Amino acid sequence: MNTLRASNESSGVALTPLDQRGRPLHDLRISVMDRCNFRCPYCMPEATYGEHFNFLRNDERLSFDELERLCRVAASLGVGKLRLTGGEPLLRPHLADLVTRLRRIEGITDLALTTNGVLLARHAGELREAGLDRVTVSLDTLDPAVFHRMSGGRGALDDVLAGIEAARAVGFPHGVKLNTVVQRGINEHTVTDLVERFRGSGIVVRFIEYMDVGNRNDWRAEDVVPSRELVERIGARWPLEPVSPRYAGEVATRYRFADGTGEIGMISSISQPFCGGCSRARLSSDGMLYTCLFATQGTDLRGLLRSGASDDGLAERLREVWLRRADRYSEERAERGGKARHKIEMHYIGG
Ligand code: GTP
Ligand code: 5AD
Ligand code: SF4
Ligand code: SF4
Repeated sequence: MNTLRASNESSGVALTPLDQRGRPLHDLRISVMDRCNFRCPYCMPEATYGEHFNFLRNDERLSFDELERLCRVAASLGVGKLRLTGGEPLLRPHLADLVTRLRRIEGITDLALTTNGVLLARHAGELREAGLDRVTVSLDTLDPAVFHRMSGGRGALDDVLAGIEAARAVGFPHGVKLNTVVQRGINEHTVTDLVERFRGSGIVVRFIEYMDVGNRNDWRAEDVVPSRELVERIGARWPLEPVSPRYAGEVATRYRFADGTGEIGMISSISQPFCGGCSRARLSSDGMLYTCLFATQGTDLRGLLRSGASDDGLAERLREVWLRRADRYSEERAERGGKARHKIEMHYIGG
């Protein structure tokens, strides 16, 4: 199928493109900064991302004017959800100013940020004021030694915890979530501590199956802890009930605690791929557009922006890219039974 959403065709308003598998473009994930102040071995291993690694220069990253313009164009095509990512997005100076600008765009109903949390205590208040709807903090463990290892020796656990508390305290309208990447033999034994700590706090912890993103983390299928196993382990201690998805293709499968103390999520891209409902496009900090987290090729939007393209020209390019899209990498991996091919790096595209 290669078509436009029927409901729009008659009204003549902005046409929402559907890709080759009938999926609409709804989410745009924007990496605002390729650098990070952590060196998580599963994402930016120190051996590769040492002192001499060439990150982008400031003028290579899209400016706030360029980002705002692209988001406006994306919203005109049906994008309603924006997520700011990195690297570490809070390393981008004056990020709250970008939030203020994006907040004003008509059609954006959800404006979110994914951060490692180290700088969050400092910025939570201004981000909330600027209109950010919600924050997701990456936190793999509460054990200081395991944390040290999983953040590549860079982060301080107490700063992340202070960031989470600050985010909770300022009261983001759509709340705070945690992302926990689970690796066999590394932090799997600390999963229940996280559940215990955040159960009843209103903060939702989501456990992520370790993925073969990028090319540098030496991913092996044996290092993945299938979500099913975690659900059993957590459920044996605190009984769980499945919660129906809020929308088709929801990234996390949700479970609620039977005693009413909240919920947890499982992101099972390895054991239960969710490509069927994937409506996400990704923009790297230098303005390359990718239609899959595991893409090998992108489309240069910065070149277009900087060569004087009109809004209509930009919209047309976005539409063309989306109409051609057929990505289903995680499903293909499951069918093939392993990783393959050269992919873009996670810190560059923001997860
Ligand atoms: P919600 O809107 O809160 O559901 O956010 P999210 O889960 O889309 O975003 P987040 O940045 O919190 O990502 C959580 C984890 O899911 C990360 O490990 C992402 O890399 C992974 N993830 C998000 N979107 C996709 C996707 O389209 N494909 C795959 N394979 N993984 C994804
Ligand atoms: N597998 C799964 N999740 C990952 N993330 C980073 N690298 C990986 C990986 N290899 C997560 C981060 C962050 C989110 C955007 O992606 O922990 O929470
Ligand atoms: Fe770790 Fe996120 Fe930084 Fe990657 S971008 S090194 S996952 S904190
Ligand atoms: Fe979407 Fe690609 Fe992830 Fe599948 S693997 S859910 S197509 S981003």
